[in-house]
Amino acid sequence: MARAKIALIGAGQIGGTLAHLAAIKELGDVVLFDIAEGTPQGKALDIAESGPSEKFDATLKGTNSYSDIAGADVCIVTAGVPRKPGMSRDDLLGINLKVMKAVGEGIAANAPDAFVICITNPLDAMVWALREFSGLPHKKVVGMAGVLDSARFRHFLSLEFNVSMKDVSAFVLGGHGDTMVPLTRYSTVAGIPLPDLVEMNWTTQEKLDAIVQRTRDGGAEIVGLLKTGSAFYAPATSAIEMAEAYLKDQRRLLPCAAWCDGEFGLKGMYVGVPTIIGANGIEKVVNIKLAKDEQEMFNSSVEAVKGLVEACKGIDDSLA
Ligand code: APR
Repeated sequence: MARAKIALIGAGQIGGTLAHLAAIKELGDVVLFDIAEGTPQGKALDIAESGPSEKFDATLKGTNSYSDIAGADVCIVTAGVPRKPGMSRDDLLGINLKVMKAVGEGIAANAPDAFVICITNPLDAMVWALREFSGLPHKKVVGMAGVLDSARFRHFLSLEFNVSMKDVSAFVLGGHGDTMVPLTRYSTVAGIPLPDLVEMNWTTQEKLDAIVQRTRDGGAEIVGLLKTGSAFYAPATSAIEMAEAYLKDQRRLLPCAAWCDGEFGLKGMYVGVPTIIGANGIEKVVNIKLAKDEQEMFNSSVEAVKGLVEACKGIDDSLA
């Protein structure tokens, strides 16, 4: 059987890390696309030259031409600009919306059957715009945010409880921004829900609240430290987890920015919800029950995403 083809649209910090991970995990042959001349070619060659030591079988190609992504099985989109200290993800909207138009058209013309994972921020609005510009089926276009936000939450929880990250599961829903909703009730250490761990005095509510806030600020914390850009290792790893779920039909249950039409009472919009990813893309949005306070937080996150989508429509008439 021929190897899968993975097209990475954007060969910056995240794009390069995605290419390296995809090759090491032998998910398929990799095409790195970017408008910057030399960058995708240089990164592809550099990673290919790590192959003999790492012993992976995958080809890597860097390109400035969309025709090279032809027939891709998966496209992961990081094209655009990242934030700098003091910027919110929403500050990127105008510039990255234009990028999504070019990328959406490029994917539609060359890889219309691909499973498309968007990482470009502001995520929920950009994945919506990318779907609109590409015209691909909603279940084949998805945004990466919840896996990353949940991974950050899990990491902080593992530090607090001093247990392996493997035994911590956590759910973060809603938009990928300040209003994201870390769901403590659905987050566990080896199956023990966080509220029970507070009752057992293993932690305090104050400490848990601080971890929730640190999770919400997780991206900004890294931007503040790096100063020249935003996080890339964990975002790339999160998207690779989603790509692998699709390519191997794993039916992973992962929180993603997915199209909701009816689920969670939403009428046609992208926002972070639990999903099952398998060979058909988003196989199912898992419509979990939210408690009153969780629903309120989710609603305000939904409103924030709606505001960004409206802003997109204000910038580009064709989206209105
Ligand atoms: N088409 C293709 N590539 C583009 C385009 C375009 N129209 N416009 C910009 N790019 C490329 C840039 O040349 C750059 O190589 O996108 C790449 C972005 O890489 P970085 O600046 O290193 O940004 P990165 O850290 O990878 O983040 C990318 O993901 O998490 C989000 O907020 C982040 O929106 C940002 C995106």
